[in-house]
Amino acid sequence: MSLLQFLLMILHSIFLEFCTCTDTILPSHPIKDSETIVSNNTNFKLGFFSPEGSKNRYVGILYNVTVQTAIWVANRDKPLNDSSGTVTIMEDGNLVVLDGQQEIVWSSNLTNSLVNSSAQLLDTWNLILKDNSNGRALWQSFQHPSDSCLQGMRLDPVSNEDDKNLITSWNSPSDASTGSFSFGVDPLNIPQVFVWNDSNPYWRSGPWNGQIFIGIPNMDSIRNNGFHVVPEDNGSLYMTVSFANQSIPTYFVLNSKGCLMQKCWYDGYEDWRVNWTNLENECDVYGKCGAFGICNSLDSPICTCLEGFEPKNITEWSKGNWTSGCERKTQLQCERNNSLVKEGKEDGFLKLTSVKVPNFAERSY
Ligand SMILES: *[C@@H]1O[C@H](CO)[C@@H](O)[C@H](O)[C@H]1NC(C)=O
Ligand SMILES: *[C@@H]1O[C@H](CO)[C@@H](O)[C@H](O)[C@H]1NC(C)=O
Ligand SMILES: *[C@@H]1O[C@H](CO)[C@@H](O)[C@H](O)[C@H]1NC(C)=O
Ligand SMILES: *[C@@H]1O[C@H](CO)[C@@H](O)[C@H](O)[C@H]1NC(C)=O
Ligand SMILES: *[C@@H]1O[C@H](CO)[C@@H](O)[C@H](O)[C@H]1NC(C)=O
Ligand SMILES: *[C@@H]1O[C@H](CO)[C@@H](O)[C@H](O)[C@H]1NC(C)=O
Ligand SMILES: *[C@@H]1O[C@H](CO)[C@@H](O)[C@H](O)[C@H]1NC(C)=O
Ligand SMILES: *[C@@H]1O[C@H](CO)[C@@H](O)[C@H](O)[C@H]1NC(C)=O
Ligand SMILES: *[C@@H]1O[C@H](CO)[C@@H](O)[C@H](O)[C@H]1NC(C)=O
Ligand SMILES: *[C@@H]1O[C@H](CO)[C@@H](O)[C@H](O)[C@H]1NC(C)=O
Ligand SMILES: *[C@@H]1O[C@H](CO)[C@@H](O)[C@H](O)[C@H]1NC(C)=O
Ligand SMILES: *[C@@H]1O[C@H](CO)[C@@H](O)[C@H](O)[C@H]1NC(C)=O
Repeated sequence: MSLLQFLLMILHSIFLEFCTCTDTILPSHPIKDSETIVSNNTNFKLGFFSPEGSKNRYVGILYNVTVQTAIWVANRDKPLNDSSGTVTIMEDGNLVVLDGQQEIVWSSNLTNSLVNSSAQLLDTWNLILKDNSNGRALWQSFQHPSDSCLQGMRLDPVSNEDDKNLITSWNSPSDASTGSFSFGVDPLNIPQVFVWNDSNPYWRSGPWNGQIFIGIPNMDSIRNNGFHVVPEDNGSLYMTVSFANQSIPTYFVLNSKGCLMQKCWYDGYEDWRVNWTNLENECDVYGKCGAFGICNSLDSPICTCLEGFEPKNITEWSKGNWTSGCERKTQLQCERNNSLVKEGKEDGFLKLTSVKVPNFAERSY
């Protein structure tokens, strides 16, 4: 063995020591662009990466598989343009990403100052910043998700005041900045999950019936796979994600086109496989056929009006522009002037099957 080989061997073993033995960032152990921390189970690592097709440097949590898979990104809206960045803990206890000029490009933004803290990447993919004196979590990536949703994550209902607990898409596969699509649970009268395009609904799950979302025909919830609404004693609720077989790597991701997918890494395959998607056909897009329209992807054209309704604007409708929707052919009896002689049949209900219930459904007890 030559001296060079010997030195390389020593270097290699030192490198391994540094690279695979720690899951924690300490004030005294920042990580540089070329370094990573790895969760104890080796499933996840945190470090710098560039998406395919981009030279920008982001700090992210990556799934340890052969295809680059960033499930969380810190500086998504402020990437670095070179490899001079570091991730470290500041004197005030905040976890930060610094550029080559030591300027803060991303911070955990805690206001409680001067805490002795460290950041640990857990086996569950959660990155927690904890107070070393008592082990308390000060900040965690689970509560600040990017575009992905993994086992054990909890999503609180959206409210107008804060939207931090929302999954938000990337702008494009090569640009991790916050895109226009988001995903979360809306408490409404009966909870539903939504994908929004900016603030407009783009897809909805249909109401939660206590076991499944009734507008998702193939979501295997009975076997504890997917999203679950958990009610709390005080009447509030939250949503969790759990998967039936946790020995198969799997997660939900909202892509830059508003498509929510469950991806799985099956043994023997070289890439993620899509096990479920919210957009199976055009009819899954919210309001595709307009008000009182009904969508059937097997029909041509896909949109028709509900029985008793006709297109609001036949010119637009016949050109395949369904946005104006349909309107009643005849007024309801209860809407007509009561002092006139009642004509025709009495008002009643028509039962429709195999359709999503309306958006603002109410439960009748
Ligand atoms: C880390 O993983 C090893 C090997 O799987 C295990 O023995 C050890 O208990 C784990 N440590 C922690 C802190 O979970
Ligand atoms: C990634 O996982 C493989 C096994 O699937 C393991 O051999 C390897 O050490 C892991 N890589 C890291 C950086 O932990
Ligand atoms: C890279 O970003 C820094 C600021 O973070 C800026 O000063 C510098 O000009 C940029 N370099 C290039 C080549 O864009
Ligand atoms: C931290 O706070 C600054 C200033 O208020 C803000 O610009 C930045 O977006 C915040 N960063 C995060 C990650 O919330
Ligand atoms: C911070 O906490 C760590 C772990 O408890 C300890 O080793 C270190 O000395 C502490 N640092 C300071 C500045 O108190
Ligand atoms: C999302 O909304 C934007 C702006 O309202 C619109 O231009 C775009 O077409 C929408 N995307 C989809 C897929 O509908
Ligand atoms: C994939 O979907 C099927 C059907 O919905 C389900 O039975 C199966 O458990 C899913 N696989 C994983 C790994 O979640
Ligand atoms: C309901 O209880 C949970 C857990 O105890 C708490 O996090 C939440 O803020 C409470 N919500 C309201 C509206 O009081
Ligand atoms: C979970 O997946 C693994 C790997 O595909 C498989 O060997 C195992 O039988 C599955 N377990 C269950 C309960 O389905
Ligand atoms: C129908 O739509 C066309 C094109 O948008 C418009 O010119 C026309 O005025 C509309 N007709 C009615 C009755 O609203
Ligand atoms: C479809 O009709 C709506 C309502 O009249 C109109 O605003 C929109 O521009 C039309 N879209 C196309 C593609 O013609
Ligand atoms: C209802 O019909 C009566 C008798 O024709 C008429 O006087 C009244 O103004 C109508 N009311 C409405 C709200 O149209």
